[in-house]
Order: sequence, then structure tokens, then C-alpha cells
Amino acid sequence: MKAIVAVDLDWGIGYKGQLLERIPEDMKFFKEKTLGKIIIMGRETLESLPGKKPLKDRTNIVLTKNRRYDDNKNMIVSHSLKELFQETNKYNEEEVFVIGGESVYSQLLPYCSECYVTKIENNYEADKHFADLDRQNGWKQIWQSEEKKYNDISFKFTKYINEKPKRQNRIQVTD
Ligand SMILES: NC(=O)c1ccc[n+]([C@@H]2O[C@H](COP(=O)([O-])OP(=O)(O)OC[C@H]3O[C@@H](n4cnc5c(N)ncnc54)[C@H](OP(=O)(O)O)[C@@H]3O)[C@@H](O)[C@H]2O)c1
Repeated sequence: MKAIVAVDLDWGIGYKGQLLERIPEDMKFFKEKTLGKIIIMGRETLESLPGKKPLKDRTNIVLTKNRRYDDNKNMIVSHSLKELFQETNKYNEEEVFVIGGESVYSQLLPYCSECYVTKIENNYEADKHFADLDRQNGWKQIWQSEEKKYNDISFKFTKYINEKPKRQNRIQVTD
């Protein structure tokens, strides 16, 4: 599986349930990468989306421990990592994207082989963060775009790879 995220200079990703910034070109990049694919998100991230609805033209998998949270036919609900992996094992793992938020990224990052990181060259007030991949063992940046501008904000797209992703089927998941 892969992850896709937008971070600020401190690897902040969110504040009070929302994104730190909405950059149209980043939204377009996210859409291009995930369209037609399988996306995994936490219940909080689902509820931050417009209308609290799953994203169109993608297979949406939502993690929640709430057993009654499965009345929406447009998404698949998983109640644990074990259930999630039973679901994701049905797909080509190249097509599975972890799209947040903080708690889901932190649990699934070890299983990701690649991560697209949009780096926003700005500091925001943030209460949710992503792991600093420049300090994570096994993670290496292999690509970055040229610097881009949105109003007075600079940003760039980058790609990291994980040299030793954990294999889902070798891990004993207990929750
Ligand atoms: N910058 C970016 O690229 C980006 C991307 C996505 C999100 N975000 C931001 O991240 C923030 C949300 O992150 P968050 O950490 O608060 O929430 P989250 O990860 O989106 O959702 C957390 C919820 O997911 C469920 N969950 C997590 N792990 C689970 C597991 N193993 N089994 C069952 N359910 C599980 C739980 O739901 P229940 O409580 O229902 O059990 C938990 O409360 C927002 O500010 C959002 O805007 C930023």
C-alpha cells in the first residue's frame, strides 16, 4: 500500500478536524493519484469531507470501532486493522492508498512501500502530524518536483520509498 499526505514545515497535517491549507493543484494531484483506486481513511477524516461523504469514483474504506457505522452503501467499513487487511488483500496493493488522518497514517505507515508528500513551505497551527520521513529509518526521498506557488505559498510534490515495508500477512494483528 501507499500513503499520500500534505504536510507543512513541521510535518503538521491538520487542525481542529480540517486540513491546514487547500491548494487546488494539490487537490488535483491527490485526485489524479487516487481516482479509480482504493482509499483508506479514519472516521474523523471521512467526517471532514464535504457532506461527510465518501470520495467519488474510488473504493472508500473507512476505519471505525463503531459497529453501527455501516449504513452507507458507498463505503466499506473496517472495525480493526485485521478486518482492514482482510479487505485490502483482495486488491493489488499498488492500488491501495492510505489518505489519513494522523491515527491511520501512524498505524499503517510501516506497511506502506511509498508515500507521496506534498510539502507546503509554511508553518500553521496544527494539532495533527505525520511522521517526519527524513528521520524515519528505512524511508528515503527519491523525487521532488520543482517549487510551485499558490498565491504567496510555496509548495512542492515529493515521493519517498520505504526500503523495508512490513508485510501484512506476516504480522499478527491483535486488535
Ligand atoms: N494533510 C493531509 O494530507 C491530511 C489527510 C487526511 C486527514 N488530515 C487531517 O487529519 C485530521 C484527522 O486525523 P485524526 O487522527 O484525528 O483522525 P482519523 O485518523 O481520520 O480518524 C480516527 C478514527 O479512525 C478510527 N480508527 C483509527 N484506527 C482504527 C483501528 N485500528 N480500528 C478501528 N477504527 C480505527 C477511529 O474511529 P472511531 O472513533 O469512530 O472508532 C478513530 O477515532 C484532520 O484534521 C484532517 O483534516 C490531513
